[in-house]
Amino acid sequence: MRSIAVMNQKGGVAKTTSSVNLAAGLARAGKRVCLIDLDPQGHGSLHLGIEAMGDIPTMYDVFTGQRPLSAVRRMVASNLWVAPSNIDLAATELELVDAANRETVLRDAIAAMTDEQPFDYIVMDCPPSLGVLTVNALTAAREVFIPLQPHFFALQGLSKLFETTALVTRRLNRDLRVTGIVLCLYETGTRLAADITEDLIGFLQSADPEAPWANARIFNTRIRRNIKLAEAPSFGQSIFAYVPNSAGAKDYEALTQEVLADEAQQVPGGPQAPVQAQAPAAAEAPPVELRRAA
Ligand SMILES: Nc1ncnc2c1ncn2[C@@H]1O[C@H](COP(=O)(O)OP(=O)(O)OP(=O)(O)O)[C@@H](O)[C@H]1O
Ligand SMILES: [Mg+2]
Repeated sequence: MRSIAVMNQKGGVAKTTSSVNLAAGLARAGKRVCLIDLDPQGHGSLHLGIEAMGDIPTMYDVFTGQRPLSAVRRMVASNLWVAPSNIDLAATELELVDAANRETVLRDAIAAMTDEQPFDYIVMDCPPSLGVLTVNALTAAREVFIPLQPHFFALQGLSKLFETTALVTRRLNRDLRVTGIVLCLYETGTRLAADITEDLIGFLQSADPEAPWANARIFNTRIRRNIKLAEAPSFGQSIFAYVPNSAGAKDYEALTQEVLADEAQQVPGGPQAPVQAQAPAAAEAPPVELRRAA
């Protein structure tokens, strides 16, 4: 099983769009996929047609120990399940403050679910913050995908993001690796997008080999700006269900194929093995060097 946290504390960089459409793409390819919505905004749930109102079980129930993940996830398409969230999840940050297991609730919940019924992929859509929900995702995941919009400010939050990953790697999950950066909302042919991409490549190449992002790569697929991707959520559909022949569907299909091609390199075994010993210290993330002045 692969478990992927789709993370970037920056808002509006296409975390949800990428989580949903990658999950849907993998499900279409015959993989059993569970998308876990970890954002109290509930956008991932809405994007797949679930408005978590009334008595609908949500991730809040999982974090408060009231329901197992298997009772919260809902099937939304062939091979595709979503564990929905709504604004209730915002309370988790406070409610978990004193809990001894506050960082490992999700890891334990996923382990319990997958013991019962196996999944090929768990995709976690993180909120735009580095709080307890994101830490839970990083503790439960084996891989981190970072959607990034290549504009000047895109790289500025990256050091903090990498530091958080390194911290979680040291303390809670030594198996965690930043494996992929997805360039989203890409303006093909612009100088700026090409420059930022180059900066990013330089930064990754200069990474300490011990750092959890040392082997991160930029996916070849660039997700172009495409209005159909922005419209699809309001129809509660993935891009493949909404407009299957759109540029957005083609791009997310290409990304899906890249992700599937990586399967051969995956280390077998579950990602949720608890960390017994203190992992060797991972390097701190150096600041991302930017060539241009602000
Ligand atoms: N390639 C694209 N082309 C056009 N619009 C896009 C594309 N990707 C995402 N969008 C739109 O950009 C907005 C932000 O995307 P999204 O909600 O996926 O970002 P996010 O990182 O999950 O945001 P948040 O930080 O609030 O969770 C949404 O309105 C989405 O529909
Ligand atoms: Mg989102």
